[in-house]
Amino acid sequence: MLQGKSVVLGVSGGIAVYKAVELLRLLTKAGADVHVIMTKNAREFVTPLTFQTLSGNPVHTDLFSLYQEHEIDHISLADRADLFILAPATANLIGKIAHGLADDLLTTSVMATKAPVLIVPAMNVNMYENPIYQRNEKQLIEFGYHLLEPVTGALACGWEGKGKMPSPEEIMAAAAGVFVPKDLLGHTILVTAGPTREELDPVRYISNYSSGKMGFAIATEARHRGAEVILIAGPTNLTAPAGVRYVPVVSAQEMREAVFDALERADVVIKAAAVADYHPVVRSTQKIKKTADDLTLQLEKNPDILAEIGQQKGGRIVVGFAAETERLLVHAAEKLKKKNLDLIVANDITKAGAGFDGDTNIVRLLHADGQVDELELMSKAAVAEKILNQVKRLLDNRK
Ligand code: CTP
Repeated sequence: MLQGKSVVLGVSGGIAVYKAVELLRLLTKAGADVHVIMTKNAREFVTPLTFQTLSGNPVHTDLFSLYQEHEIDHISLADRADLFILAPATANLIGKIAHGLADDLLTTSVMATKAPVLIVPAMNVNMYENPIYQRNEKQLIEFGYHLLEPVTGALACGWEGKGKMPSPEEIMAAAAGVFVPKDLLGHTILVTAGPTREELDPVRYISNYSSGKMGFAIATEARHRGAEVILIAGPTNLTAPAGVRYVPVVSAQEMREAVFDALERADVVIKAAAVADYHPVVRSTQKIKKTADDLTLQLEKNPDILAEIGQQKGGRIVVGFAAETERLLVHAAEKLKKKNLDLIVANDITKAGAGFDGDTNIVRLLHADGQVDELELMSKAAVAEKILNQVKRLLDNRK
């Protein structure tokens, strides 16, 4: 997505400048041609030489530097950019842009560009919550600037709270998202992901190998395309994508409750979760001791969340998954019909490159009208894109 793009990375003065170095590395690795502009304060944290070495381009600092103006002036920087990323963006920088101030090279270039601008704020929590800052941020979003919200955590100033700059990987994902057409704007998509865990006792549970990667990829792509996303996920090692409403759950029962709490708001439901089919009849409050020579567990069925949604789907588009080890199309088609779905994503988890833990998948998309799309091996992000293309088509046909 960023291959061959000309990116201006605007760095203002905050402790998070060190993370902008890694961001620059990722941007160049993705094939972007990066031109860095540093404010005076940013240079107090890291020297331009670091950014120059990693970008392979001179770092721009002064509005009136004769040498730099000769080489490349602020207008040509603004003109040639496909994207501006301001990371970290201080409260001061954001305040200046929101009020049309252009008193240094960075603010002048931002004012002069017609390229999309992704702002990545980083600051103390009290500054972040200050209504003056909040008003400036809102104003910029209304003007069409892209904003990646800061995350909550321990801040360098000693405070705990919202204001931390997201990881360079998350900024990369948001940067790629800027170029994605917002064709799902106005829709709310509920995505479930990951496994569920059914507890036996305080130290053991029944679960499955689902990593959550497929569902998280769908949530990320849906968000990039402008949808409101509610991501309900069982235990995974993944970080929730920026900008989605993330609801972590553990058991199938909890997932069911979270899904039905959110269902009213959603006009699309995509159930990528590998819900455990059974839970133990008895959950022991104490650790089960190995006194007996054999142990029989009695399990009872979990509610089939997807089938319940199918029964009360109204005007919603409902997409299910079918992970199979044999007779893929037969089983998937049965589930599509039985659960009243619009689309089912079928994968044979025994195939190399398909299934739970990897970054790729091989799926077939079965439609309610009998059409079957066979997709080759591709990344889970690419599968997510294909699924959402079909969802978009179904939404358009519904009108
Ligand atoms: N599903 C669900 N609730 C369950 C079981 C499954 O919502 N209790 C959903 C999954 O999220 C998936 C689809 O139903 O979208 C199919 O799940 P899968 O495990 O493949 O099929 P099952 O219906 O559980 O049937 P079986 O295990 O017999 O293959």
